[in-house]
Amino acid sequence: MKLGVNIDHIATLRNARNEGRPDLIEAVKLILHHDISAITMHLREDRRHIKDEDLINVKNLNAPINLEMAATKEIQQIALKILPHSVCIVPEKRQELTTEGGLDVSGQKEYLKEFIKPLKENGIIVSLFIDADKEQIEASRYIGADYIELHTGTFSSAFKKGDFASELEKLKQGTILAQKIGLKVNAGHGLDYENVSLMKQIPDLKELNIGHSIISKAIFTGLDVAVEEMIKLIK
Ligand code: PXP
Repeated sequence: MKLGVNIDHIATLRNARNEGRPDLIEAVKLILHHDISAITMHLREDRRHIKDEDLINVKNLNAPINLEMAATKEIQQIALKILPHSVCIVPEKRQELTTEGGLDVSGQKEYLKEFIKPLKENGIIVSLFIDADKEQIEASRYIGADYIELHTGTFSSAFKKGDFASELEKLKQGTILAQKIGLKVNAGHGLDYENVSLMKQIPDLKELNIGHSIISKAIFTGLDVAVEEMIKLIK
């Protein structure tokens, strides 16, 4: 199981003043020597954190970018220009604080099947951010995704309340079903230093995408230590 470090919130802090601090590129350089699988960045439609030039600058470092994106033509064109290592298609609403809920794949199967074709043809690995729901998992397989990323937000909230067994079980069962039908499985959202070890109970998860808890810890420990400690917990 590998770590994908989501750097959106470094950009959030930078954008609070728009004076280039903290420098996203300096941050990526600090992270890249770790044994991570991805630098994860969400280019939102409203560009509230990551900007187009951030993607170009990170790509120029030869970093393995995992681009979180809505299934819109505009962002698809950018993905085809940047050619990230992978994309993770997420639902996106302008008013939300962060990605809320998984993508509805089964409700837009044919659209998504066509949408991901050029991405795959250009060698980009395609993942879909979904809830651990049978219908969504089967639809993900149908449209030809390589990976799914299971939404761990509900599990993470349940963990805070101390009653997470059934949410963890849903993630396990969803993973087993997905793997059985030929999908590889990642997970992410709301994972932190307290709950992340439980992900080891889920068989053969490939990647955990984690952002907010790492960047929050980095304020106190520095980014290098924050990333290193998370890697230790998931190994
Ligand atoms: N995975 C996906 C698809 C996301 O949208 C996000 C949030 O940007 C994350 C993982 C990371 O979530 P968090 O910042 O809560 O660790």
